[in-house]
Amino acid sequence: MKHIRSIYIFCSIAMSVQGWASKLPEERELTTNFSNLSLRKIPADLTPTTTTLDLSYNLLSQLQSSDFRSVSKLKVLILCHNRIQELDIKTFEFNRELRYLDLSYNRLKIVTWYSLAGLRHLDLSFNDFDTVPICEETGNMSHLEILGLSGAKIQKSDFQKIAHLHLNTVFLGLRSLSHYEEGSLPILNTTKLHIVLPMNTNFWVLLRDGIKTSKILEMTNINGKSQFASYETQQNLTLEDSKTSVLLLNKVDLLWDDLLLIFQFVWHTSVECFQIQHLTFGGKVYLDHNSFDYSNTVMRTMKLEHIQFRIFHIPQERIYLLFTKMDIENLTISDAQMPHMLFPVYPTRFQYLNFANNILTDDLFKQPIQLPHLKTLILKGNKLETLSLVSFFANNTSLKHLDLSQNLLQHENDENCFWPETLITMNLSSNELADSVFRCLPRSIQILDLNNNKIQTVPKEIIHLKSLQVLNLAFNFLTDLPACSHFRKLSILDIEMNLILSPSQDFFQSCQEVKTLNAGRNPFRCTCELRDFIQLGKYSEGMMIGWSDSYLCEYPLNLKGTQLKDVHLPELSCNTALLIVTIAVIMLVLGMAVAFCCFYFDLPWYLRMLGQWTQTLQRIRKTTQEQLKRNVQFHVFISYSEHDSTWVKHELIPNLEKEEKLICLHEGNFDPGKSITENIMNCIEKSCKSIFVLSPSFVQSEWYHYELYFAHHSLFHENSDYIIFILLEPIPLYCIPTRYPTLKALLEKKAYLEWPKDRHKCRLFWANLRATINVNLLETGEMCELQTFMELNEESRGSAISLIRTDCL
Ligand SMILES: *[C@@H]1O[C@H](CO)[C@@H](O)[C@H](O)[C@H]1NC(C)=O
Ligand SMILES: *[C@@H]1O[C@H](CO)[C@@H](O)[C@H](O)[C@H]1NC(C)=O
Ligand SMILES: *[C@@H]1O[C@H](CO)[C@@H](O)[C@H](O)[C@H]1NC(C)=O
Ligand SMILES: *[C@@H]1O[C@H](CO)[C@@H](O)[C@H](O)[C@H]1NC(C)=O
Ligand SMILES: *[C@@H]1O[C@H](CO)[C@@H](O)[C@H](O)[C@H]1NC(C)=O
Ligand SMILES: *[C@@H]1O[C@H](CO)[C@@H](O)[C@H](O)[C@H]1NC(C)=O
Ligand SMILES: *[C@@H]1O[C@H](CO)[C@@H](O)[C@H](O)[C@H]1NC(C)=O
Ligand SMILES: *[C@@H]1O[C@H](CO)[C@@H](O)[C@H](O)[C@H]1NC(C)=O
Ligand SMILES: *[C@@H]1O[C@H](CO)[C@@H](O)[C@H](O)[C@H]1NC(C)=O
Repeated sequence: MKHIRSIYIFCSIAMSVQGWASKLPEERELTTNFSNLSLRKIPADLTPTTTTLDLSYNLLSQLQSSDFRSVSKLKVLILCHNRIQELDIKTFEFNRELRYLDLSYNRLKIVTWYSLAGLRHLDLSFNDFDTVPICEETGNMSHLEILGLSGAKIQKSDFQKIAHLHLNTVFLGLRSLSHYEEGSLPILNTTKLHIVLPMNTNFWVLLRDGIKTSKILEMTNINGKSQFASYETQQNLTLEDSKTSVLLLNKVDLLWDDLLLIFQFVWHTSVECFQIQHLTFGGKVYLDHNSFDYSNTVMRTMKLEHIQFRIFHIPQERIYLLFTKMDIENLTISDAQMPHMLFPVYPTRFQYLNFANNILTDDLFKQPIQLPHLKTLILKGNKLETLSLVSFFANNTSLKHLDLSQNLLQHENDENCFWPETLITMNLSSNELADSVFRCLPRSIQILDLNNNKIQTVPKEIIHLKSLQVLNLAFNFLTDLPACSHFRKLSILDIEMNLILSPSQDFFQSCQEVKTLNAGRNPFRCTCELRDFIQLGKYSEGMMIGWSDSYLCEYPLNLKGTQLKDVHLPELSCNTALLIVTIAVIMLVLGMAVAFCCFYFDLPWYLRMLGQWTQTLQRIRKTTQEQLKRNVQFHVFISYSEHDSTWVKHELIPNLEKEEKLICLHEGNFDPGKSITENIMNCIEKSCKSIFVLSPSFVQSEWYHYELYFAHHSLFHENSDYIIFILLEPIPLYCIPTRYPTLKALLEKKAYLEWPKDRHKCRLFWANLRATINVNLLETGEMCELQTFMELNEESRGSAISLIRTDCL
């Protein structure tokens, strides 16, 4: 197990080696960057405290001994991609702290060495050296870790000078290679060796020597063109003393048979992880798995990425089986335009298979494949269509991780799925899956990616996904957050970019375990239903991914584009029950207040009085001069029953007099020759206003005098302004004799002023009465008289009549 891990680490180191040249030690100190400025000379005014100086991509051709004297603190100096032809390392004599010196991609031919003891990284690759520029002094730079070299001729004697150095990386960036003395490379003691070959070089010897040199070997530009196979078949393909465990070939362009020979060669070396990137092959397929010697290997991982071929007819079976019969642990063949894959009929030991970005179809699963140890299968970016077929295949494995993203997968409801109980993660993103996919999922699933499919709802009746913890449903067509009743352990939910208007209560009730939610970029409808959701976003710190920038209202239109956190939805307007209760309470209080007023202050009486007052005021405006011009002599004529005379004398008249300066007269104005009724009629005619004090006794004793008159003049319908009735005591309707229809009508219409029993109300009563009388008095003079008659004859039986006269008329 430990072994496997270390190989894996080597693999990843090998992959990072490619970019090693650009990696600089981390510097917090001053960096001066003169990169890409077309400089021909090094600037004289360098800041003395500069620790990192970048002069790359300029036109520098010479370095002077004084150039870097001022920057004594310099640690990193980058001079790559210039035109420097000659280098005297003594130039850096005063830069004692220099650690990193990059002179790659120049035109160096000559280096004069000087031992810079502190240097760790020295890059002289891609220069025009004739021989590799190594001297005795190079061997004295004991801190050197990374050394970049170039040279047209490579010979043992050069490398011997640094054989004792324990290097981390040796990088051979070669512009040309005219001679390589076999056995030179293995002299170096380095962990990694990276060789970039010039085009069309015989790589064979370098590959053999490279494998004998370092643990990790990377070779770029392997292109032997033709003839290699015929030449090499005469060679001995076995190798002793191989050291490499991780081999990476980059930019390989070979004939198929040559490629096969390389596989065969590497197969019997110490290489455990073999990776080829950017592979192109052509030619005819003579050699295949039948001629391959699979015995005796330590190979565990094979990785082929970015493959192209220049063959018109590929005998697929022969090529595929070469790899699948290798029976190693890990096999990757990705970005290879591979339409199919075949496996041997017997069980193989593969644990990890990666066929990403090919053009594999359902046919892959149509023949029985026995992969009992398979743990990880990556089929991302192919053309698979039927999810259930994959499940049948998987059922015969112990698969844990399955990546089926970026295919054309669908699932029909009537198809059955049989997944192994070992499956933990499944990536089904970017497929054509609809709601039915939830009926084709393994029970044991923990992480499920269904992002970018065609799911509209999470069906309610699905099997319980008891272990599901992470669910990605982003970029689908869901209109609601899912309820978690079937996956109670869910803790991370991604539902970004769906069609959610307002999440339903189901989510909040059943998804208590969710700790991280991404529901951004949905077209939220910012109404009351969204309240709980907004609260969640505001108060659950860190739970909502992307809060608050990606949570915007889409509806209603007046809120479009507003962030959810800025939407204000008050409790009262959202909680219907609360709203109803509030309204009910207000109504109740109002009702009680009204009832209280009615009961305690006799509100209806006041209202009626006020109503009459306003009518009166209106009438004042309407009153015409003609009315005044009636032949009036008296101001007010008051008719009342003897029984009520006390009230009239002590209440009514004093109150009327108060403001009107009325004078009472006792002289008879009644014509004795006329009947009392005639006299009364006469009085009414002569008076501006007539007041009748109504009470049961008045009705009984007096009313008959007037009944005919009132009926005749139809006073209650129009023009009744000058008759004022005061109801002194209530008269029950049943007490009124049927011969008095006018009186009945009067009482029913309530066309009278009611004398209040309550003394507090009297002021309003008097004010109202005076206003009524005033209607016609406004334009009269100030002097008025009041005449009161007492007629005590048989007929009248103690009735009393008062007349109030104004002088001014
Ligand atoms: C200097 O600037 C160039 C881009 O202008 C950049 O690529 C390079 O990394 C910079 N160098 C340093 C040491 O930061
Ligand atoms: C140098 O600058 C030119 C234009 O200013 C730009 O096109 C070029 O990519 C730059 N080169 C590097 C290596 O930064
Ligand atoms: C290398 O260093 C040793 C001592 O560390 C010294 O004796 C020797 O002369 C140096 N060689 C050269 C070529 O500078
Ligand atoms: C190479 O260097 C390592 C330390 O990096 C050392 O252990 C080993 O013995 C050296 N090998 C040779 C052949 O000098
Ligand atoms: C290949 O070389 C090895 C030693 O390096 C030797 O043992 C073996 O016999 C050789 N095989 C052939 C076919 O020459
Ligand atoms: C095979 O691949 C898996 C997943 O990348 C990795 O964990 C494992 O270490 C690999 N095994 C070998 C022998 O490289
Ligand atoms: C499943 O595997 C067994 C042996 O492991 C094999 O006999 C059987 O044919 C396989 N079935 C399918 C459908 O591949
Ligand atoms: C799936 O595999 C299990 C055990 O490996 C087996 O019992 C079952 O019959 C298989 N189902 C199908 C449909 O092949
Ligand atoms: C699923 O695959 C897609 C790309 O195919 C990738 O972006 C995503 O991160 C994967 N999901 C998981 C959970 O690994």
